[in-house]
Amino acid sequence: MGARVPAAVLRTAGGPLQVEEVVLPEPGPGQVRVRMAATGVCHSDLSLANGTMVQPLPAVLGHEGAGRVAAVGEGVAGLAPGDPVVLNWAPACRACWWCTHGEPWLCERANQAWQRPYAQLADGTEVYAGLGTGAFAAETVVGADACVPLPGDLPLVEAALLGCAVLTGVGAVRNAARVRPGESVVVIGLGGVGLSAVQGARLAGADPIIGVDPVEAKADLARRLGATHVVTPGPGLSRRVRELAGGRGADHAIECVGRPETIRAAWSATRRGGRTTVVGLGGTGDKVTFNALEVAHFARTLAGCLYGNADPAVDVPRLVDDYRAGRLELAALVTEQIPLAEAGAALGRLGTGARSVIVFPDP
Ligand code: APR
Ligand code: ZN
Repeated sequence: MGARVPAAVLRTAGGPLQVEEVVLPEPGPGQVRVRMAATGVCHSDLSLANGTMVQPLPAVLGHEGAGRVAAVGEGVAGLAPGDPVVLNWAPACRACWWCTHGEPWLCERANQAWQRPYAQLADGTEVYAGLGTGAFAAETVVGADACVPLPGDLPLVEAALLGCAVLTGVGAVRNAARVRPGESVVVIGLGGVGLSAVQGARLAGADPIIGVDPVEAKADLARRLGATHVVTPGPGLSRRVRELAGGRGADHAIECVGRPETIRAAWSATRRGGRTTVVGLGGTGDKVTFNALEVAHFARTLAGCLYGNADPAVDVPRLVDDYRAGRLELAALVTEQIPLAEAGAALGRLGTGARSVIVFPDP
């Protein structure tokens, strides 16, 4: 008999999130039970909730979480009850072709935990963990490889953001785009991911750093995190970016929305020969079009990027160093702290702030 814990459950795509009890098994071999401290509400949770992204249901959403190890299963080394950890929603197997060729973020088994039930609802129905993590719950059970250890002095509300938004946004700039000092960067979309990309651009020494978002209230925070200019999207966007970036357009555009029009806008804001990095996740029905001349003529590189092309085992410690050295802001990304019962409402508020973070009461 495992633990009964409150969780925000999605039963049908497009349906509400309802807080109900789930029954977690004891951690099996290689597994860990984690008591959540905090979980951020990410746009991918909204995309799963509304069916833009697909995963088996019913599911406990939430994948940007930090907490403490509550119990470990057989054969788990290096983790003990009480240890602070941040969850990795795409743990690499370290054995497949991608893992053995230096691209663990593309691991072919990274989504294994999304595909099998991990717990039960009170009525015995099997339930899945959103992106394999199920972090909109007081506790979860994950593979030990989904737990990235944290130093003991890190505030866990802020640390939760290392599990998705910050790893993804900073990683897009550092690992995927590989921005160099003095290069120009435009970041399209200033949510938790985009604001992290702005910070990544500052960390990389980029200049100028142009943030783009229709919500004007984002400008102050974006500037504080490193944007040198903040503009609103619209038909004149690529001309405006050209003006700000040497008359050429940006060396790098980082797309952090996930819609056809913003992917197009990112492409058009990139200079000839520059690089467009797409971080946003759209739906399979959304089409982006390019005319047959422009691809060669502009000679831009259009690249996708998944989970910041990061290896959390390597990149999380690096981000922790940046945070401790005062180079990386985390608290500023936490717009509000909310109880689990507000998870569904927070999905509806996505886009207005940086991050809503669910905070779990101490047991
Ligand atoms: N141009 C620029 N920004 C836009 C536009 C637009 N046309 N439309 C919306 N935005 C802005 C929103 O105002 C918001 O600030 O994009 C931002 C999206 O932020 P969030 O909803 O907080 O999303 P976030 O969690 O940051 O994720 C962004 O990355 O990982 C993926 O699935 C995720 O596709 C999503 C993207
Ligand atoms: Zn996310």
